[in-house]
Amino acid sequence: MIKKAIFPVGGLGTRFLPATKALPKEMLPVVDKPLIQYAVEEAVEAGVEEFIFITGRNKSAIEDHFDHSFELEATLKDKGPVKDYALKLVRESVHLPGSVIFIRQQEPAGLGHAVWCARNLIGDDPVAVMLADDLILGQSCLREMVDAYSGGNMVAAMNVPNDQTGAYGIITPGADDGRLVEVTGLVEKPAPGQAPSNIGVVGRYIITPDVFDTLSVQLAGASGEIQLTDALAQQIGKAPFTGMRFSGERFDCGSKIGFLKANLAFGLDDDDLCEQLQTWLKDRIS
Ligand code: G1P
Repeated sequence: MIKKAIFPVGGLGTRFLPATKALPKEMLPVVDKPLIQYAVEEAVEAGVEEFIFITGRNKSAIEDHFDHSFELEATLKDKGPVKDYALKLVRESVHLPGSVIFIRQQEPAGLGHAVWCARNLIGDDPVAVMLADDLILGQSCLREMVDAYSGGNMVAAMNVPNDQTGAYGIITPGADDGRLVEVTGLVEKPAPGQAPSNIGVVGRYIITPDVFDTLSVQLAGASGEIQLTDALAQQIGKAPFTGMRFSGERFDCGSKIGFLKANLAFGLDDDDLCEQLQTWLKDRIS
């Protein structure tokens, strides 16, 4: 049902300098896979067939990652069956020709602006927006959203600590069954104490084509960053809006501590690494 996903990957990644001087932050690996590949795989599990990347300068490594690497593949093939698995891994991130699209954002004008850059590729159906910084261990969050989706706009949601509302879009809740929550208001990064709740938005969205029209109007009058949150908030009352608490564990890989935790959690979740990592961790912290 949701066939297209937008991946805003234009950010500078300044929090990870110097690692991100020449490398896009979305290419930072958690264990052995770049963040962006996790997001794309999550989308594939949800039935997405078209991948729209909103890029910026210095992001060509992402384009290369989702293309054939002719020399590498030929070299691995020459080495015979011993390199079959490596060859499989190299080919895993190559999708059907024409299904991976790159658009330059041209200016870092905010998440809403990045999403708006895809407007000419969006038809009459809802699309997904996925932020690779939010890495989710467990079930495909987007799959869960697609399964629960019944129209309008939808965001992934989680309860966040009260003192951290300033890092998230925060929901004003209506009817709430503990999993699905009606969104009756949405505000970007309110200070603790001013937040309408502690239900935060995690970087997975299903948005209707109307959101792009709202973004166009916002852009016309905007001075600062264009927020997706504001465009979604303007849709309230015109279309259903739902938050979905997902079953997986989310890691904020836009921060160093979140990125480190993700590497440890994904390492502990890996059959080949779990035991050695556990032993080392126990020794290290005892
Ligand atoms: C973005 C959104 C915010 C959302 C967050 C989730 O903020 O603007 O509403 O809660 O992603 O990670 P960012 O973290 O990119 O500043």
